[in-house]
Amino acid sequence: MERFYNPVETYFGTGAMEQLSAVIDSDGETVEKVLLITRGGDFSNTADYRKLMQQLQHTVVFVYPVEISNPDVTDLHALLQATRDFDYNLVIAVGGGSVLDLGKSAAGFKGYQCESADGLREAIVSRAYSSNSQACSWIALPTTAGTGSEVTPWATIWDRKNDVKYSVEGKNLFAKAAIIDPLLTLSLPVRTSIISGLDAICHATEAYWSRNTNEISRQFALQAIRSLVPNLASLREDPHNVEIRTQVALGSFLAGLAFSNTRTTACHSISYPITLLYGIEHGLAASMTLAKMMKWNEEALIDPEKLFRAFGAADVDGIGSVLDGIYEKSGFSGRLRDYAVPQEGLRMIVEKAYTKGRMDNNPRSIEQEELHELLLEVY
Ligand SMILES: [Fe+2]
Repeated sequence: MERFYNPVETYFGTGAMEQLSAVIDSDGETVEKVLLITRGGDFSNTADYRKLMQQLQHTVVFVYPVEISNPDVTDLHALLQATRDFDYNLVIAVGGGSVLDLGKSAAGFKGYQCESADGLREAIVSRAYSSNSQACSWIALPTTAGTGSEVTPWATIWDRKNDVKYSVEGKNLFAKAAIIDPLLTLSLPVRTSIISGLDAICHATEAYWSRNTNEISRQFALQAIRSLVPNLASLREDPHNVEIRTQVALGSFLAGLAFSNTRTTACHSISYPITLLYGIEHGLAASMTLAKMMKWNEEALIDPEKLFRAFGAADVDGIGSVLDGIYEKSGFSGRLRDYAVPQEGLRMIVEKAYTKGRMDNNPRSIEQEELHELLLEVY
């Protein structure tokens, strides 16, 4: 028997953002105060922002722009401190994965009193948020088409002080609704869009081969890969093409659905120290080992031909060229050495690559020495 669960009400399509006020009112409760977490930069000067505020004209709004990526415990603590006297009923997060993860965490930790970042760190580790009676709901409006946070029950919060990452997670952290409007992705730098799309390809592929995989996730994963691969390769040449943006947004959403029930595996687990130690963006770091890990996992794959065909490859050896094609057309490298990673650094990556619940979710286990060999191949 196959089991799949996802409770997020989803609105998808160009102009979907205009449904926001109807979505807020959809369960008949009056929402008086909204904590609006947005991406930073010039977002508050955009037409999208003005449209958003129009949708929120009947509520009191606290706007919290987020300028950073990969939110740290200290960033979440700063957000909770800044908003502690604003007794919000709902969080709306508009941005990339970092913004959505902060929004999800702000909903889970709403009203939770933590005087220091160290206290919050303990609360995350002890999952104090799971019994927080003041937790509120949240709505996701993704703008990068990548992380899938809008349909997953977990948020990544980093801890640079201890070189680890935490997952704030639980069924109560699923969004009340996801509003996926490809028009929101049009103004994003194309590099950010492509890298978040690479992240989504990893979500789909890792959902496909995860130890927790199921038939429904695999179907979502295959369709996600079919939508993402050709369209990501064309994105740099034609960044304002709404059809390409729509396909990338759809692929990322389907990938999110796929891995919302499986979690990720080795590629993500290996990427965490690559990002923490060398600052390589998440989607890029995760995708660097994807082709080699597929080869490693080949013997454990269910219906491997279906997976290769979704990529447009004849066999496992063709996957590397497909991904290289995306890197090349996008103008960046998929090799660690091109990001100032010293070869001696590979040992440190190996040492920190074994995140519980991710590496042991890979269909075939890999020992440290074998992983070092694999990293040398992508070095
Ligand atoms: Fe990811």
